Amino acid sequence: MPAPGKGARTDRTGSTRRQFLLGGAVAGVGAAAAVGADQALTSTDAPAVDAAPLHGAQTVPFHGAHQAGIDTDAQAHGLFVALDLRDGTDREALRRMMRILTDDAARLTRGEPALADSEPELAVAPSRLTVTFGVGPRFVARARGEAPGWLKALPSFTVDRLVPELSDGDLLLQVAADDPLTVAHASRMLLKDARSFATVRWTQQGFRRAHGTVRPGTTMRNLFGQVDGTANPVPGTADFDRLVWAGDGWLAGGTGVVVRRIRMTLDTWDELDRSGREQSVGRYLSDGAPLTGTDEHDEPDFEATTEIGFPVIPEFSHLRRARSENPDERIFRRAYNYDDGGSGTQVSDAGLIFVSYQADVERQFVPIQRRLDELDLLNRWTVPIGSAVFAVPPGCDEDGFIGETLLT
Ligand code: HEM
Repeated sequence: MPAPGKGARTDRTGSTRRQFLLGGAVAGVGAAAAVGADQALTSTDAPAVDAAPLHGAQTVPFHGAHQAGIDTDAQAHGLFVALDLRDGTDREALRRMMRILTDDAARLTRGEPALADSEPELAVAPSRLTVTFGVGPRFVARARGEAPGWLKALPSFTVDRLVPELSDGDLLLQVAADDPLTVAHASRMLLKDARSFATVRWTQQGFRRAHGTVRPGTTMRNLFGQVDGTANPVPGTADFDRLVWAGDGWLAGGTGVVVRRIRMTLDTWDELDRSGREQSVGRYLSDGAPLTGTDEHDEPDFEATTEIGFPVIPEFSHLRRARSENPDERIFRRAYNYDDGGSGTQVSDAGLIFVSYQADVERQFVPIQRRLDELDLLNRWTVPIGSAVFAVPPGCDEDGFIGETLLT
């Protein structure tokens, strides 16, 4: 391929430029995709590019042993949609639905329009799009499968103020990409195709920093300003594999996901001084280092005491309460922020879409949440208002579909 430069830029319809712009995304796509790409790149709002390949061209492989969107470096935008199955959606219909949705997801994540895509121009910038499916207890029952024991609503916790409109569901779609327009288009295609099988129960839209604003690998910040996600199993390690991927039956190679919408009362949090905020978690706000260390990834020293004998990392701190001595009682957190803006006298309606992946929700997530329910200073400024648990089936290959281990 010639080096990109002025020539490439003036060649507005040439294949060289097209391939350069779309990079790997264009390889192997069908005619429909090529038409979409041409249209997008010759339209008046096509981005002018002189140098580096566009980030929008980047793809995350859809097919594989595990579904994408779990061990994928979290994208800037995440949309979570829970669906309720219609009464008539039986096992056969579930199979049809999952075949269609898998086909849509596979195409869209490659940067190809979905079949009968009503806006094919919007499909050409996948921006690391992933679509991850989870199934609720009713889905598994309709599929006449055996649900893992933990696939049910979580036990109720005293901190909970859950509303049904933000909880539970039969099918979860986690649609994530670095471009919000890509997320909107992909979710619309999926929901259009799901429409005859299911209705939307709840939708939650989340964000992290936009792509390119911080160095890759930087731990995210939540709306309290905290570095959030430091002590997390690392994808690609044996530790991660053991904690996240399930080993049994139709769920082998899959996992479990907990999605909790947690409102953060920013207005009262702001009244707390900086040291109080740092003590409530046990980490510095500046860089996320533990109060006993200097670097984000320093091990916290829970034994350290102040001059007058108090623990440096307080007993009530989120860090101390969330950590378990049991190495199996750990989860992989992959949260998103949400901000619905203020209304009336309330300045903000914001919080965290807490998302955690773990092989066994009952054994890994529940004990942590129980401890936090008993004591965690953060509870003063955080209120869980939605909660849902799904089993996330394994990935599939190019001839297969997500959910096939349950439905065939
Ligand atoms: C809005 C609610 C929450 C906020 C603002 C929040 C914030 C934080 C922060 C700032 C940290 C320290 C940095 C890190 O390691 O990521 C942390 C750690 C952690 N949080 Fe949360 N969290 C929230 C809810 C939860 C929930 C619901 C759970 C699970 C039930 C949880 C489990 C954990 C765990 C396991 C750690 C790591 C502890 C360790 O160091 O081993 N968090 N959280």
